[in-house]
Amino acid sequence: MYKSKITGMGMYVPENEITNRDLTALMDTSHEWILERTGIESRRHIKKGDGNTTATMGVKASRIAIERSGIDKNDIELILFATLSPDYYFPGSGVIVQKELDIPTCPAMDIRNQCSGFIYALSTADQFIKTGMYKNILIIGSENHSGGLDMTTRGRGVSVIFGDGAGALVLSRSSSEETGILSTHLHSEGKYAEELSLIGPSTRRWVPEIMAANDAEDTSYYPYMNGQLVFKNAVVRFSEVIMEGLQENQMTPDQIDMLIPHQANLRISQFIQKKFGLTDDQVYNNIMRYGNTTAGSIPIAMTEAWEAGKIKSGDLVVLAAFGSGFTWGSALIRW
Ligand code: ACO
Repeated sequence: MYKSKITGMGMYVPENEITNRDLTALMDTSHEWILERTGIESRRHIKKGDGNTTATMGVKASRIAIERSGIDKNDIELILFATLSPDYYFPGSGVIVQKELDIPTCPAMDIRNQCSGFIYALSTADQFIKTGMYKNILIIGSENHSGGLDMTTRGRGVSVIFGDGAGALVLSRSSSEETGILSTHLHSEGKYAEELSLIGPSTRRWVPEIMAANDAEDTSYYPYMNGQLVFKNAVVRFSEVIMEGLQENQMTPDQIDMLIPHQANLRISQFIQKKFGLTDDQVYNNIMRYGNTTAGSIPIAMTEAWEAGKIKSGDLVVLAAFGSGFTWGSALIRW
């Protein structure tokens, strides 16, 4: 069995910053409400005409990750693209990245696991590298939420939370036994599938049917979130899946150097931080500036933490996510 390690990371967020106060012009909300419940102060939204899409933001992050990894783009043997907001219904966004990067015929695959999508993609890539099938895999997490949110008072419980952005990394075969991905852990609980979901348009209700109904009150094409149920499950599952990873590696919470949680809600991250007895320096949060960028949030946060010198050689880095599905997962990495 081979081992995999991260050899390059990159991120991209649109320039257009939307503060909480900007949102008060669109809906009945306040900076104080959003800050207190979520920790968010601003987020980035794609501006119509700025050329950004889920895939093209992923391309921008990928170019940086590939350059930092030092490999030639043609050495990429697999592209994994995690998103809940692909450019098109089909095909997936992985092939669009492939086209934009001009990589001829390597496989490209989309992963549909929402907030946990990046950890699912990382785990999938790790398996391909472990078995020796591939040596270099490009993994992307990217979301374009802004165009699909209900930016009126009706949608305020959801729309204030989400932002746009992308992160990417190159996972490569490691020459060292000591460093790289130690383990990944994945879970789902489909009984909650509809509790955080966007159900229309879908193949249960195709676009022509929605158009024929011509119902201005139809909210099925906006995301729905049972916020309190999500919150309650998130704090439990985050904790469980981090513990699972530590136990599998015969480690204890005091050995964590850096926890990078999916940026769902600052209150969830703070709960986990307290539970594991971590200091502010041991948990990286940037939800204050970007909101929840779903599959993009972990690679964006990892890239920023690394750029800021907060991840050092030899550190134990723990990634964890929870989200729609419900799905959750963790990854332990020796840097
Ligand atoms: N501004 C002002 N008031 C609002 C807003 C808003 N943006 N949104 C909701 N309210 C109002 C509601 O209408 C309600 O008013 P009422 O009492 O008069 O009926 C009141 O605030 C309380 O609403 P709740 O939905 O009960 O608020 P809650 O305390 O649950 O907070 C929140 C909502 C922040 C979404 C919370 O449930 C939460 O954080 N849940 C976790 C979900 C999460 O983190 N999701 C991230 C995406 S999923 C993921 O990444 C895991």
